[in-house]
Amino acid sequence: MDAVEIFTELATPAGRANPYPLYAALHEIGEAMILAPGAVVVIGYDAISAVLRDPGFRVGDEDSFDQDFPGWRDNPVFVQGMDWILNLNGPKHARIRSLVARTFTARRVADLAPAIAKMADDLLDAMADRGADGSPVEFMNDFAYLLPVTVICELIGIPQADREGFRPVARDLAQVFEFTDVSSLPAINAAAVELLAYFTGLAARRRSDPHDDLITDLLAVSAAADGRLSDGELLHNLTLLLVAGFETTTNLLGNGLHVILQQPQVAAEIAGGFVPAAAFVEEVLRYDSPVQLTSRVGYETKIGGVRVSDGDAVTTVLGAGNRDPRRFADPDVFRPTRTDGGPLSSGGGAHFCIGAALARLEGGIAFPKLVRRFPKLKSAGEPVRRETFLLRGFDELPVTVA
Ligand code: HEM
Repeated sequence: MDAVEIFTELATPAGRANPYPLYAALHEIGEAMILAPGAVVVIGYDAISAVLRDPGFRVGDEDSFDQDFPGWRDNPVFVQGMDWILNLNGPKHARIRSLVARTFTARRVADLAPAIAKMADDLLDAMADRGADGSPVEFMNDFAYLLPVTVICELIGIPQADREGFRPVARDLAQVFEFTDVSSLPAINAAAVELLAYFTGLAARRRSDPHDDLITDLLAVSAAADGRLSDGELLHNLTLLLVAGFETTTNLLGNGLHVILQQPQVAAEIAGGFVPAAAFVEEVLRYDSPVQLTSRVGYETKIGGVRVSDGDAVTTVLGAGNRDPRRFADPDVFRPTRTDGGPLSSGGGAHFCIGAALARLEGGIAFPKLVRRFPKLKSAGEPVRRETFLLRGFDELPVTVA
């Protein structure tokens, strides 16, 4: 098969369900390839790393949207999205990112550990109740989805009473990451409008009644005399944190459980402390990355032996880089004890995931609790993969716990 045939196969349901043999075939071809005029795909670990760290490769921003999707200004989600640090380049990206990062501190993340442990215990209690008679429990819905969304609410400072209502709204908005079809836009736009209205109200409440939370800290930053973060930039990036923070982590939890169900000895190794939870999480991120790809706009250069031109669409397939045989010994083997770790799953360079430590903390707390609590944990039916490709995870992972 040539590269085009392999990518055609990757777009099929079977290819999306298990892209890894196709990635292996791509690695035999090279580190990067031109799929069509103006479309470059990068699959080698070193080449992906180089693209992500090279400021010459920009993320698609307002200028690219003007070219590719001139009607974008009619869509609230894109109007807000143009302030998201994910979609900004250069000084504006650096300014907003550093202000957000100032509030998203290592201390704030570490301080969440007890709350995460409590939330995980509560969710496991509920699973234990539901599955006590041996009936199946649905892990994705009952745990993997609820834990990260609750954690991100806690971090931002969204009161308990408000959380339940907007989980589905956040889920609708998260579809924007996999946006290919305009028919999904009405729901995405409605979610963007609703969340913005919600955060506007919450910000007003926190201005008069500050709490120890991220939204209060962000308000302090934006109220600085030199006006470094506008109201729009603040509110829009809160929405980004919310949606970037949970769907991805949900899939980390689901993909990790899937490994455990397929390789039960791994559960025993984590439960017994022979495999540190952090090492397990790192290997899940490498082996089955929740984010499979990201993209950049190219400039005149060469990458992985392939010529890139100004304005080319450059897709970096993180999930393929994580299985690059030039970088990892036995790349298709799940081995949490490997010493050649270092997945690309959190990106790299200026846009390196701001929530990388939080996602790892959640996984590091959740998996040991799960396997210790349910030593009899077993699959209770065929897992259902999500049809998406960029975000890789499951819709359903039924298990029995008793
Ligand atoms: C396992 C879970 C996660 C994965 C796999 C993941 C993956 C990524 C990747 C690959 C990028 C870089 C995108 C690019 O270079 O184009 C990124 C950026 C980002 N992530 Fe995450 N993420 C996860 C969890 C989180 C969490 C928990 C949060 C927030 C609470 C978060 C917030 C962000 C933000 C705001 C950015 C944009 C940073 C920037 O553009 O400067 N992520 N993430």
